[in-house]
Amino acid sequence: MALMDTHADEINRHLAKYPDRRSAVMPLLYIAQQEYGHITDEAVREIAGIVGVDETHVHGIVGFYTMYYDEPKGKHLLYICTDLPCALKGAEAFSQQVCEHLGVENHGTTEDGLFTVENVMCIGACHRAPVMQDNFHFHEDMTLEKAKKLIDDLRREHEASKPYTH
Ligand code: FES
Repeated sequence: MALMDTHADEINRHLAKYPDRRSAVMPLLYIAQQEYGHITDEAVREIAGIVGVDETHVHGIVGFYTMYYDEPKGKHLLYICTDLPCALKGAEAFSQQVCEHLGVENHGTTEDGLFTVENVMCIGACHRAPVMQDNFHFHEDMTLEKAKKLIDDLRREHEASKPYTH
């Protein structure tokens, strides 16, 4: 189903904010990513059509900004800051431990599709390093134990939200 079928109000709200509708590309990409888990070619085509630009222009934006994904990622993106202040507090080793715990490499996704781990640059909470971000939630002063608990909690939440089947 097209984005305009499912998110027309939201899309129109964004389009109304800008004198030039081309400026709405980024918020529309964000809607697409929320909806499909990543930016599909179909979404690029649709967004290009809505704002009136070439698909190449939209692909260029997706390729430029690291917050957009053109391939499937885990339901939970675990961003681990390994920039200098966090690195000084052991972020590299922490990231490696989290990856080992989940059985993935940096940028890898677990087989169940629940988690993707990505090392990132500063996410603005250096005073509480090392820092990890789970989608939009910040987790500060991280340790492997805290990360394991968070991962367990998120797995439990996911299990609990599955439809009951018998
Ligand atoms: S360096 Fe890690 S949050 Fe700033």
